[in-house]
Order: sequence, then C-alpha cells, then structure tokens
Amino acid sequence: MKTFFKYLCVALAVVLSAQATAHGATPSGNAATGARLAQQCADCHGTDGIAPDDTMPNLAGQKASYLIKQITDMRSTANKRAGLTLSQDIDKEIRSDRYKFTRVGRSNEIMDSVVIDLRDRDIADLAAHYSRLSCATTRALTVPKSPTQAVRCKACHGANGVSRSSVIPNLAGQSEGYLMGRLQAYREIGRELSKKERRRNIMATQARLLRDDDITSLARYFSSLACN
Ligand code: HEC
Ligand code: HEC
Repeated sequence: MKTFFKYLCVALAVVLSAQATAHGATPSGNAATGARLAQQCADCHGTDGIAPDDTMPNLAGQKASYLIKQITDMRSTANKRAGLTLSQDIDKEIRSDRYKFTRVGRSNEIMDSVVIDLRDRDIADLAAHYSRLSCATTRALTVPKSPTQAVRCKACHGANGVSRSSVIPNLAGQSEGYLMGRLQAYREIGRELSKKERRRNIMATQARLLRDDDITSLARYFSSLACN
C-alpha cells in the first residue's frame, strides 16, 4: 500500500510540476526583493513568516513552487472577482467553497487586494524569500504519537511532514488551527464532488472520510513536528 502511494506521489509531482511550468512560474526569485515586498504580508503572516494567529498559515520554509502556485491561483481568482460585477452567477461560483481548493484555483477574499497587483516576478521573489526563512518555531512542544491516518499523508507530505516534492506543501510546524480549517474545507469539498471530479482533487479525496477527531489529531500532530 505504501509503495502504491509513493508511485501516486511521483506521478502527481510530475503532473503538478508540468502545471507550474504551464503557469509560467519561475521558482528562481530574488529573496532580497521578496523580503521588501513581504512587509505588506507581515500583519497576517508574521515578520518572520510565522503567523501570529493560529488560524493563519505560516509561510516560513514552505516550498517555493507550492507558494507560487497558491499565490498565482489566488491572484487569478481575485482578478476574476474584480471583473465580475455584472455576472452574479459566476461570482457565486467563485465564492463557493467548492471552487476554493479544486484544480480550478483557490479563492480567498482576504487575500484579494494583496495579490491582485502582484506581477509574476513579485510572486517569484516573495516565494524565494519565504521558502528560505527558517520555520523553526519557539514553541516548546511534545510531539504526540503519530495518528494511524498520518501514514498515508506521509507518503506525499514526507515522513516528518517535510515533503520531498517542491509542489507538495510541508505540514510540519504549520499552524494547528489553519491545518484544521484546511482539512475541514477539503472534507466538505470531498463530500460534494462526484467520484469523477474527486479524481482531479487529491486532497478532497484524502479528507473525505476523516472524522472530526481524526482532523484534530492530524492537525495537532503535524503542527508539533519540527520543520527543519
Ligand atoms: C489581511 C491578512 C493577510 C495578508 C495581509 C496577507 N495574507 Fe496571505 N493569507 C491570509 C489568509 C487568511 C490565508 C488563508 C486562506 C485560506 O485559508 O484559504 C492566506 C493564505 C496565503 C497563502 C497560502 C498558504 C498555504 O499554506 O497554502 C500564501 C502563499 C499567502 N497567503 C501569501 C501571502 C503573501 C505573499 C502576502 C503579501 C504579499 C500575503 N499573503 C498577505 C491572509 C493574509
Ligand atoms: C497523493 C498525495 C497526497 C496525500 C496522500 C495527502 N496529500 Fe495533502 N496535499 C497534497 C497536495 C498536492 C497538496 C497541495 C494542493 C494544492 O496545490 O492546492 C496538499 C495540501 C494539503 C494541505 C494544505 C496545506 C497548506 O499549506 O495549505 C493540507 C493541510 C494537507 N494536504 C494535509 C494532508 C493530510 C492530513 C493527509 C493525510 C490524511 C494528506 N494531506 C494526504 C498531496 C497529498
């Protein structure tokens, strides 16, 4: 079973890298320029990329290609949303949870005004900056026992929650509340999508059958792991 997941991950990484290239994203940004641009992100994501609020994602040490994909996706949604004052239907579609994490893109209204004016180069610079920051947190943590469900997560997100693929995010040291929120959202989407649609959304499939206590223990476990 483990081997199966490894193969699945390799195949997925290939597909996702191809997509990242198709977006025209270059993971070789300028970290110093990125650091200056990141000042506008600090209120929510922290001056050092460690979010002050547990429901906001930490960006420090996250994979550059993954960051580029998320920011680019949020920017394209923001653009669509801004241009769609007349079409209620499309606006509704973009706002729906289902749109949020499918391959179509990612939608987050809080991020709209921040990302809408970013150029591709800015996004690459920001990703270079954040991916180089240390994700070591100051929290004194005891790592709980690995939940049974975590075995399959580790096939893609890495044995210690640090993924080996540049397009699969690290989970180690990520904010606990943020991880819970993402898993709950993926679960909702997984329950709504048809079997065929789920095939295109790996995390919706992964989270669909998780129980509340699975989500709680997975979030606690991964957030307590040291990320480097
Ligand atoms: C007003 C608060 C706020 C500001 C300012 C902000 N963000 Fe965010 N950001 C959020 C929230 C909230 C989320 C989580 C969205 C979700 O749950 O889908 C997020 C998510 C993200 C993610 C996805 C993280 C992941 O692990 O998937 C990235 C990347 C990101 N922001 C980058 C940035 C960058 C770069 C800037 C500055 C140019 C910025 N943000 C400014 C609130 C903010
Ligand atoms: C087959 C590979 C695979 C498996 C197995 C997998 N994931 Fe994921 N996961 C991904 C990919 C790829 C993404 C990024 C999706 C995107 O680009 O939007 C992701 C994203 C996430 C995110 C969002 C991270 C962020 O920073 O926003 C969380 C949380 C997550 N996974 C948790 C889990 C958990 C918990 C499990 C086990 C129950 C799991 N994943 C199993 C591939 C996988």
